[in-house]
Amino acid sequence: MAKAYGKAGVAEVKGYQSWVNIANAPYQSGTHGNRFVNNYADSHGDYRYKKFEKAGTMPLGSVLAKDSFVVQSNGKVAIGPLFIMEKMASGWNKATGDWRYSMVMPNGKVAGATKSKGMSMKFCAECHESVAPDQDYIMLLPDENRKM
Ligand code: HEC
Repeated sequence: MAKAYGKAGVAEVKGYQSWVNIANAPYQSGTHGNRFVNNYADSHGDYRYKKFEKAGTMPLGSVLAKDSFVVQSNGKVAIGPLFIMEKMASGWNKATGDWRYSMVMPNGKVAGATKSKGMSMKFCAECHESVAPDQDYIMLLPDENRKM
């Protein structure tokens, strides 16, 4: 998985598998194509992210990464996209709460990002918006899938 995503060369998510993962095991996410996912946070804001609803506003530079896979009917595992959120400088983009959404495809290509070429990732922001401003656009995960 890390190998497939690594081809994209996105420095922000390098080594993400060693970050804090707030999921106790991969869980199925209906909002990300029913894929099995994990929720990682890097050291900029991991101490906040693991407080769940009490996380408050995530610090500048925080990167949240959600890797994904599907189990096919033949039992084989297929890698899905890596979903990424990065907290940019204040005022970078009011509409997304300064979060930059992007997606790395399993073939190592970046599908697009907020305010950049390719897919605009507007649909990501529009859904995550439902928990702003209470939770700074972070959706967390169902109670039974939480690590702590
Ligand atoms: C229809 C709603 C919806 C859409 C569209 C959506 N998300 Fe999410 N996102 C969620 C929910 C709900 C969670 C937490 C629970 C889960 O994983 O199912 C989440 C969790 C995440 C997380 C983990 C951080 C957090 O919020 O706690 C990241 C990173 C993420 N999404 C990125 C993306 C990206 C990038 C896109 C677009 C390519 C996207 N999401 C599209 C609803 C959505």
